[in-house]
Amino acid sequence: MSVDAATALLAWYDVHHRVLPWRAAPGTAAPDPYRVWLSEVMLQQTTVAAVRAAFLRFTARWPTVADLAAVDDADLMAAWAGLGYYARARNLLACARTVVADHGGRFPDTEDGLRALPGVGAYTAAAIAAIAFGRRAVVVDANVERVVARLFAIDTPLPAARPAIRAATDVITPDQRAGDFAQAMMDLGSGICTVRAPACILCPLRPHCAAARAGDPARFPVKAAKTIRPERHGPIWWVERGTDVLLVRRPPRGLLGGMRALPTGDWTDAPVAQTPPIQADWHPVPGTVVHAFTHFRLTLTLFRAVVERDIAPEMGGTWWPRDALRAAGLPTLFAKAATLALETPR
Ligand code: ADE
Ligand code: SF4
Repeated sequence: MSVDAATALLAWYDVHHRVLPWRAAPGTAAPDPYRVWLSEVMLQQTTVAAVRAAFLRFTARWPTVADLAAVDDADLMAAWAGLGYYARARNLLACARTVVADHGGRFPDTEDGLRALPGVGAYTAAAIAAIAFGRRAVVVDANVERVVARLFAIDTPLPAARPAIRAATDVITPDQRAGDFAQAMMDLGSGICTVRAPACILCPLRPHCAAARAGDPARFPVKAAKTIRPERHGPIWWVERGTDVLLVRRPPRGLLGGMRALPTGDWTDAPVAQTPPIQADWHPVPGTVVHAFTHFRLTLTLFRAVVERDIAPEMGGTWWPRDALRAAGLPTLFAKAATLALETPR
Protein backbone atom coordinates (compact mmCIF):
# COMPACT_ATOMS: atom_id res chain seq x y z
CA MET A 1 0.00 0.00 0.00
CA SER A 2 2.65 2.51 1.04
CA VAL A 3 4.69 2.62 -2.14
CA ASP A 4 1.57 2.61 -4.31
CA ALA A 5 -0.01 5.46 -2.39
CA ALA A 6 3.10 7.65 -2.68
CA THR A 7 3.46 6.86 -6.38
CA ALA A 8 -0.17 7.68 -7.08
CA LEU A 9 0.07 10.92 -5.11
CA LEU A 10 3.29 12.06 -6.83
CA ALA A 11 1.80 11.37 -10.26
CA TRP A 12 -1.20 13.50 -9.29
CA TYR A 13 1.11 16.26 -7.98
CA ASP A 14 3.08 16.33 -11.23
CA VAL A 15 -0.11 17.45 -12.95
CA HIS A 16 -2.12 19.27 -10.28
CA HIS A 17 0.46 20.96 -8.01
CA ARG A 18 -0.19 24.56 -7.03
CA VAL A 19 2.33 26.93 -8.58
CA LEU A 20 3.74 28.95 -5.65
CA PRO A 21 6.62 31.40 -5.74
CA TRP A 22 8.77 29.48 -3.23
CA ARG A 23 8.41 26.16 -5.01
CA ALA A 24 10.48 24.45 -7.68
CA ALA A 25 8.55 22.60 -10.36
CA PRO A 26 7.90 18.97 -9.30
CA GLY A 27 10.85 16.68 -9.76
CA THR A 28 13.28 19.51 -10.63
CA ALA A 29 16.31 20.76 -8.68
CA ALA A 30 15.58 21.75 -5.10
CA PRO A 31 14.64 25.40 -4.49
CA ASP A 32 16.82 27.86 -2.55
CA PRO A 33 16.74 26.86 1.18
CA TYR A 34 16.40 30.52 2.17
CA ARG A 35 13.17 30.82 0.19
CA VAL A 36 11.85 27.54 1.56
CA TRP A 37 12.61 28.56 5.12
CA LEU A 38 11.07 32.03 4.67
CA SER A 39 7.89 30.62 3.15
CA GLU A 40 7.52 27.98 5.87
CA VAL A 41 7.88 30.54 8.66
CA MET A 42 5.33 32.82 6.98
CA LEU A 43 2.93 29.93 6.35
CA GLN A 44 2.88 28.96 10.01
CA GLN A 45 0.28 31.55 10.79
CA THR A 46 -1.16 32.91 7.56
CA THR A 47 -2.88 31.45 4.52
CA VAL A 48 -1.11 30.60 1.29
CA ALA A 49 -3.07 33.39 -0.42
CA ALA A 50 -1.84 36.01 2.06
CA VAL A 51 1.73 34.73 2.12
CA ARG A 52 2.17 34.86 -1.64
CA ALA A 53 2.36 38.67 -1.85
CA ALA A 54 4.37 39.03 1.35
CA PHE A 55 6.86 36.42 0.17
CA LEU A 56 7.42 38.24 -3.13
CA ARG A 57 7.81 41.55 -1.30
CA PHE A 58 10.36 40.09 1.14
CA THR A 59 12.45 38.25 -1.46
CA ALA A 60 12.52 41.26 -3.79
CA ARG A 61 13.78 43.43 -0.95
CA TRP A 62 16.05 40.82 0.67
CA PRO A 63 17.08 38.28 -1.99
CA THR A 64 19.45 36.30 0.27
CA VAL A 65 19.64 35.33 3.91
CA ALA A 66 22.62 37.69 4.28
CA ASP A 67 20.49 40.61 3.06
CA LEU A 68 17.81 39.74 5.58
CA ALA A 69 20.34 39.31 8.40
CA ALA A 70 21.62 42.84 7.78
CA VAL A 71 18.23 44.56 8.09
CA ASP A 72 17.35 46.88 10.99
CA ASP A 73 15.00 45.24 13.47
CA ALA A 74 12.51 48.10 13.05
CA ASP A 75 12.42 47.74 9.25
CA LEU A 76 11.67 44.06 9.55
CA MET A 77 8.93 44.64 12.13
CA ALA A 78 7.33 47.19 9.81
CA ALA A 79 7.51 44.80 6.84
CA TRP A 80 5.97 42.06 8.99
CA ALA A 81 2.74 44.02 9.63
CA GLY A 82 -0.26 41.83 8.87
CA LEU A 83 1.75 38.62 9.03
CA GLY A 84 0.90 37.83 12.64
CA TYR A 85 2.87 37.46 15.82
CA TYR A 86 5.92 39.69 16.05
CA ALA A 87 7.71 37.00 18.06
CA ARG A 88 7.94 35.13 14.75
CA ALA A 89 9.51 38.15 13.05
CA ARG A 90 12.05 38.43 15.86
CA ASN A 91 12.89 34.74 15.49
CA LEU A 92 13.11 35.16 11.74
CA LEU A 93 15.79 37.79 12.16
CA ALA A 94 17.60 35.82 14.88
CA CYS A 95 17.62 32.78 12.60
CA ALA A 96 18.93 34.70 9.57
CA ARG A 97 21.71 36.17 11.72
CA THR A 98 22.61 32.75 13.12
CA VAL A 99 22.81 31.26 9.63
CA VAL A 100 25.14 34.07 8.57
CA ALA A 101 27.25 34.22 11.74
CA ASP A 102 27.53 30.50 12.54
CA HIS A 103 27.00 28.72 9.23
CA GLY A 104 28.66 30.99 6.65
CA GLY A 105 25.30 32.02 5.21
CA ARG A 106 24.23 28.48 4.30
CA PHE A 107 21.35 26.71 5.97
CA PRO A 108 22.21 23.41 7.68
CA ASP A 109 21.09 20.54 5.43
CA THR A 110 19.84 18.08 8.06
CA GLU A 111 16.72 18.01 10.19
CA ASP A 112 18.78 18.13 13.41
CA GLY A 113 20.93 20.99 12.17
CA LEU A 114 17.86 22.97 11.12
CA ARG A 115 16.05 22.20 14.38
CA ALA A 116 18.85 23.95 16.29
CA LEU A 117 18.13 27.30 14.58
CA PRO A 118 16.08 29.97 16.40
CA GLY A 119 12.36 29.61 15.76
CA VAL A 120 12.67 26.39 13.74
CA GLY A 121 10.48 23.68 15.29
CA ALA A 122 10.07 20.01 14.42
CA TYR A 123 7.59 20.65 11.60
CA THR A 124 9.63 23.43 9.98
CA ALA A 125 12.90 21.49 10.21
CA ALA A 126 11.32 18.46 8.55
CA ALA A 127 9.69 20.59 5.84
CA ILE A 128 12.94 22.39 4.95
CA ALA A 129 15.01 19.19 5.04
CA ALA A 130 12.59 17.51 2.65
CA ILE A 131 11.70 20.41 0.34
CA ALA A 132 15.05 22.21 0.11
CA PHE A 133 17.48 19.32 0.60
CA GLY A 134 15.60 16.31 -0.71
CA ARG A 135 16.02 14.48 2.59
CA ARG A 136 13.53 11.86 3.60
CA ALA A 137 11.71 13.57 6.46
CA VAL A 138 8.25 13.03 7.93
CA VAL A 139 6.35 16.30 7.45
CA VAL A 140 3.06 16.62 9.33
CA ASP A 141 1.10 19.86 9.24
CA ALA A 142 -2.66 20.24 9.78
CA ASN A 143 -3.48 19.26 6.19
CA VAL A 144 -1.29 16.17 6.29
CA GLU A 145 -2.75 15.25 9.67
CA ARG A 146 -6.26 15.28 8.24
CA VAL A 147 -5.40 13.32 5.09
CA VAL A 148 -3.49 10.65 7.01
CA ALA A 149 -6.15 10.29 9.71
CA ARG A 150 -8.60 9.57 6.88
CA LEU A 151 -6.33 7.27 4.86
CA PHE A 152 -5.87 5.04 7.90
CA ALA A 153 -9.26 5.77 9.51
CA ILE A 154 -7.48 6.61 12.77
CA ASP A 155 -10.30 7.06 15.23
CA THR A 156 -8.35 8.04 18.32
CA PRO A 157 -9.33 11.67 18.99
CA LEU A 158 -6.83 14.47 18.49
CA PRO A 159 -4.48 15.38 20.06
CA ALA A 160 -3.92 11.84 21.40
CA ALA A 161 -3.86 10.56 17.80
CA ARG A 162 -0.75 12.59 16.86
CA PRO A 163 1.85 9.83 17.46
CA ALA A 164 -0.22 7.34 15.44
CA ILE A 165 -0.70 9.90 12.63
CA ARG A 166 3.01 10.58 12.59
CA ALA A 167 3.86 6.88 12.45
CA ALA A 168 1.38 6.36 9.61
CA THR A 169 2.84 9.34 7.70
CA ASP A 170 6.27 7.78 8.14
CA VAL A 171 4.98 4.54 6.58
CA ILE A 172 3.77 6.25 3.40
CA THR A 173 6.64 8.77 3.01
CA PRO A 174 8.83 7.72 0.06
CA ASP A 175 12.63 7.70 0.08
CA GLN A 176 12.77 9.78 -3.10
CA ARG A 177 10.97 13.10 -3.61
CA ALA A 178 9.99 13.45 0.04
CA GLY A 179 9.68 17.22 -0.47
CA ASP A 180 7.29 16.84 -3.38
CA PHE A 181 5.42 14.19 -1.40
CA ALA A 182 4.96 16.53 1.59
CA GLN A 183 3.77 19.38 -0.62
CA ALA A 184 1.50 17.03 -2.54
CA MET A 185 -0.14 16.01 0.74
CA MET A 186 -0.59 19.73 1.58
CA ASP A 187 -2.13 20.45 -1.81
CA LEU A 188 -4.40 17.43 -1.55
CA GLY A 189 -5.49 18.52 1.93
CA SER A 190 -6.18 22.09 0.89
CA GLY A 191 -7.91 21.38 -2.45
CA ILE A 192 -9.42 17.88 -2.35
CA CYS A 193 -9.36 16.30 1.09
CA THR A 194 -10.87 19.40 2.69
CA VAL A 195 -12.16 19.69 6.24
CA ARG A 196 -15.89 19.61 5.54
CA ALA A 197 -16.36 18.11 2.08
CA PRO A 198 -13.59 15.78 0.89
CA ALA A 199 -13.89 15.27 -2.89
CA CYS A 200 -12.99 11.57 -2.85
CA ILE A 201 -14.15 11.19 -6.46
CA LEU A 202 -11.20 13.36 -7.56
CA CYS A 203 -8.67 11.92 -5.13
CA PRO A 204 -5.64 9.92 -6.29
CA LEU A 205 -5.54 8.18 -2.90
CA ARG A 206 -9.08 6.89 -2.97
CA PRO A 207 -8.08 3.26 -3.66
CA HIS A 208 -5.87 3.42 -0.55
CA CYS A 209 -8.24 5.26 1.74
CA ALA A 210 -9.90 3.47 4.64
CA ALA A 211 -12.19 6.40 5.50
CA ALA A 212 -13.50 6.71 1.94
CA ARG A 213 -14.12 2.97 1.90
CA ALA A 214 -16.07 3.21 5.16
CA GLY A 215 -18.20 5.96 3.62
CA ASP A 216 -17.88 8.87 6.06
CA PRO A 217 -14.45 10.45 5.60
CA ALA A 218 -15.38 13.85 7.09
CA ARG A 219 -15.68 12.09 10.46
CA PHE A 220 -11.85 12.05 10.59
CA PRO A 221 -9.75 13.29 12.26
CA VAL A 222 -11.86 12.70 15.36
CA LYS A 223 -11.71 15.64 17.74
CA ALA A 224 -11.79 15.32 21.51
CA ALA A 225 -15.06 16.57 22.99
CA LYS A 226 -14.92 20.33 23.35
CA THR A 227 -14.14 21.59 26.81
CA ILE A 228 -16.08 24.69 27.71
CA ARG A 229 -13.89 27.73 27.45
CA PRO A 230 -13.89 30.05 30.45
CA GLU A 231 -15.31 33.51 29.84
CA ARG A 232 -13.42 36.73 30.37
CA HIS A 233 -14.65 40.29 30.12
CA GLY A 234 -13.05 43.68 29.74
CA PRO A 235 -13.28 47.19 28.33
CA ILE A 236 -11.62 48.38 25.16
CA TRP A 237 -10.92 52.08 24.66
CA TRP A 238 -11.44 53.85 21.34
CA VAL A 239 -10.00 57.37 21.46
CA GLU A 240 -10.44 59.67 18.49
CA ARG A 241 -8.64 62.92 17.79
CA GLY A 242 -9.42 64.65 14.50
CA THR A 243 -9.22 61.93 11.84
CA ASP A 244 -6.98 59.69 13.99
CA VAL A 245 -7.49 56.92 16.51
CA LEU A 246 -5.12 55.94 19.30
CA LEU A 247 -3.22 52.67 18.92
CA VAL A 248 -0.79 51.10 21.38
CA ARG A 249 1.69 48.28 21.10
CA ARG A 250 1.09 45.29 23.37
CA PRO A 251 3.88 44.20 25.72
CA PRO A 252 6.39 41.92 23.97
CA ARG A 253 5.56 38.85 26.06
CA GLY A 254 2.13 37.38 26.56
CA LEU A 255 -1.02 37.17 24.48
CA LEU A 256 -0.68 38.97 21.10
CA GLY A 257 2.75 40.08 22.31
CA GLY A 258 4.33 42.97 20.43
CA MET A 259 1.34 43.54 18.19
CA ARG A 260 -0.41 46.83 17.51
CA ALA A 261 -3.67 47.06 19.40
CA LEU A 262 -6.38 49.23 20.82
CA PRO A 263 -5.91 49.95 24.52
CA THR A 264 -7.80 47.53 26.77
CA GLY A 265 -8.43 47.29 30.50
CA ASP A 266 -8.07 44.19 32.67
CA TRP A 267 -9.68 40.95 31.50
CA THR A 268 -11.76 39.65 34.41
CA ASP A 269 -14.01 36.64 35.11
CA ALA A 270 -17.13 38.83 35.33
CA PRO A 271 -17.90 42.23 33.80
CA VAL A 272 -16.85 44.98 36.22
CA ALA A 273 -16.73 48.74 35.82
CA GLN A 274 -13.17 49.89 35.19
CA THR A 275 -11.63 53.32 35.34
CA PRO A 276 -10.80 54.65 31.86
CA PRO A 277 -7.12 55.32 31.18
CA ILE A 278 -7.70 59.05 30.70
CA GLN A 279 -10.37 61.54 31.69
CA ALA A 280 -12.70 62.17 28.78
CA ASP A 281 -16.35 62.10 27.84
CA TRP A 282 -16.66 58.30 27.42
CA HIS A 283 -19.68 56.64 25.78
CA PRO A 284 -20.31 52.91 25.54
CA VAL A 285 -20.75 51.68 21.97
CA PRO A 286 -23.78 49.37 21.70
CA GLY A 287 -22.91 45.72 21.11
CA THR A 288 -19.87 43.71 22.16
CA VAL A 289 -16.76 42.27 20.58
CA VAL A 290 -16.44 38.53 21.14
CA HIS A 291 -13.29 36.59 20.39
CA ALA A 292 -12.35 32.97 21.13
CA PHE A 293 -8.76 32.41 22.19
CA THR A 294 -7.45 28.88 22.73
CA HIS A 295 -7.99 28.96 26.46
CA PHE A 296 -10.83 31.42 26.99
CA ARG A 297 -13.54 33.41 25.33
CA LEU A 298 -13.27 37.15 25.63
CA THR A 299 -16.18 39.61 25.51
CA LEU A 300 -15.12 43.22 25.21
CA THR A 301 -17.25 46.31 25.70
CA LEU A 302 -16.16 49.23 23.59
CA PHE A 303 -16.02 52.75 25.00
CA ARG A 304 -15.53 55.75 22.76
CA ALA A 305 -14.24 59.23 23.49
CA VAL A 306 -13.19 62.19 21.37
CA VAL A 307 -10.30 64.28 22.69
CA GLU A 308 -8.73 67.55 21.64
CA ARG A 309 -5.40 67.35 23.44
CA ASP A 310 -2.61 64.97 22.52
CA ILE A 311 -2.96 62.18 25.08
CA ALA A 312 -0.81 59.74 23.06
CA PRO A 313 2.35 60.22 25.17
CA GLU A 314 0.61 59.65 28.51
CA MET A 315 -1.09 56.53 27.13
CA GLY A 316 2.10 55.25 25.53
CA GLY A 317 0.44 55.09 22.12
CA THR A 318 0.47 56.66 18.68
CA TRP A 319 -2.16 58.29 16.50
CA TRP A 320 -3.17 56.36 13.43
CA PRO A 321 -5.44 57.57 10.56
CA ARG A 322 -8.86 56.01 11.12
CA ASP A 323 -9.43 55.31 7.45
CA ALA A 324 -6.06 53.53 7.05
CA LEU A 325 -6.52 51.07 9.92
CA ARG A 326 -6.17 48.08 7.62
CA ALA A 327 -2.49 48.92 7.20
CA ALA A 328 -1.96 48.72 10.96
CA GLY A 329 -2.05 44.91 10.87
CA LEU A 330 -4.32 44.68 13.90
CA PRO A 331 -4.96 41.16 15.22
CA THR A 332 -8.51 39.93 14.55
CA LEU A 333 -9.81 40.80 17.99
CA PHE A 334 -8.90 44.48 17.56
CA ALA A 335 -9.92 44.55 13.92
CA LYS A 336 -13.39 43.42 15.05
CA ALA A 337 -13.48 46.19 17.66
CA ALA A 338 -12.39 48.77 15.09
CA THR A 339 -15.13 47.63 12.72
CA LEU A 340 -17.73 48.02 15.46
CA ALA A 341 -16.48 51.50 16.30
CA LEU A 342 -16.32 52.63 12.68
CA GLU A 343 -19.74 51.22 11.82
CA THR A 344 -21.56 52.66 14.82
CA PRO A 345 -22.69 56.24 14.23
CA ARG A 346 -21.80 58.69 16.96
N1 ADE B 1 1.94 25.15 3.96
C1 ADE B 1 3.10 25.03 4.60
N2 ADE B 1 4.11 24.78 3.74
C2 ADE B 1 3.56 24.75 2.51
C3 ADE B 1 4.07 24.53 1.21
N3 ADE B 1 5.37 24.31 1.03
N4 ADE B 1 3.20 24.55 0.18
C4 ADE B 1 1.90 24.77 0.42
N5 ADE B 1 1.35 24.97 1.60
C5 ADE B 1 2.18 24.97 2.65
FE1 SF4 C 1 -9.41 12.34 1.61
FE2 SF4 C 1 -11.37 11.12 0.25
FE3 SF4 C 1 -8.87 11.15 -0.66
FE4 SF4 C 1 -9.50 9.67 1.45
S1 SF4 C 1 -10.27 9.43 -0.63
S2 SF4 C 1 -7.71 10.97 1.21
S3 SF4 C 1 -10.99 11.00 2.45
S4 SF4 C 1 -10.24 12.93 -0.40
